[in-house]
Amino acid sequence: MNFNIAVIPGDGIGPEIVEQTKYVLEKVGDVYGHKFQFTEVLAGGCAIDKMGEALPAETLEVCKKSDAVLLGAVGGYKWDNLPGNQRPEQALLGLRKGLGLYANLRPAILFDDLKDACPLKPEIIGDGLDICVVRELTGGIYFGEKGFKETELGKAAYDVEIYSEGEVERIARRAFEIARKRNKKVTSVDKANILESSRLWRSVVEKVAKEYPDVSLNHMYVDNASMQLVRNPKQFDVIVTSNMFGDILSDEASMITGSIGMLPSASLGEDNIGLYEPVHGSAPDIAGQDKANPIATILSAAMMLRYTFDLEEEADAVENAVKKVLSQNYRTEDIMSEGMILVGGKKMGELIREQIS
Ligand code: IPM
Ligand code: MG
Repeated sequence: MNFNIAVIPGDGIGPEIVEQTKYVLEKVGDVYGHKFQFTEVLAGGCAIDKMGEALPAETLEVCKKSDAVLLGAVGGYKWDNLPGNQRPEQALLGLRKGLGLYANLRPAILFDDLKDACPLKPEIIGDGLDICVVRELTGGIYFGEKGFKETELGKAAYDVEIYSEGEVERIARRAFEIARKRNKKVTSVDKANILESSRLWRSVVEKVAKEYPDVSLNHMYVDNASMQLVRNPKQFDVIVTSNMFGDILSDEASMITGSIGMLPSASLGEDNIGLYEPVHGSAPDIAGQDKANPIATILSAAMMLRYTFDLEEEADAVENAVKKVLSQNYRTEDIMSEGMILVGGKKMGELIREQIS
């Protein structure tokens, strides 16, 4: 089969991790008889430098016409002092909104071979961790009204948290569907003791839950959820939450798996076009030194194979290749521990490709 993939290398370590991921997809294509056509486009800081804006219209157009989007990372020190609406991060928000990608899936899985990298005590993680954070991605405070006004205490700034029933319903449904294929448990995280938007969220989630009697649902306040994630993470299967809470909790969930350098993500909308990117950022401090771990991006490509292209076997092959290389003790710097073999990002990519046959 033929697939068109829009590729956004972006900034910092983005280009190097995306390059390795493209090679992995090409290997999958060779082995399983698919053709992946890559169209590279600019977004983020590099687009600001070359085209004057973080998300050029042409980039969004190419993405819309593609079957899927592969993204490295955007942002860096160089653009840190730009006004909020001109920062490289705006490219991400524009892509999410422009492509209607309201569901962000962030699996936090502890690989057996990386148990030592987990900062939690062995008795807390037991036989491993496998949590899926389902973050709402096109609503809430990220996209609510924002602005400034004068107050008695001087200039004030505001960002409005707002959710409609429809927005909550579709993300809740997505979470229940995912839970059905996993351990059939959804934890909805909100701040319903304080926020009106959370109370609406909770009532809609409860309504949707009635359609999924085989999946259990519990609610948790976000402060408690952040504590429970380190106290007893094994209680979680699928966590569904708002854009802002999901941003924060997915970083926390990723850290308890040892390295943010390992975690992929998928952003999906109503049709199957999806954007796939690592959870980590552009890491400008190590860019261009062949130190960056490409695994999160490679695993994001595996999610692309599974969710957008419906290629289960190929997705498994990529994930198994990663596991195999880890079991052979190869490590990039971010996941290095005593007695392991340190390799650069290129070598890591090459080792993973060799395992796909
Ligand atoms: C993420 C990032 C982004 C977000 C930033 C870079 C805009 O932190 O994808 O988690 O806040 O959504
Ligand atoms: Mg984040």
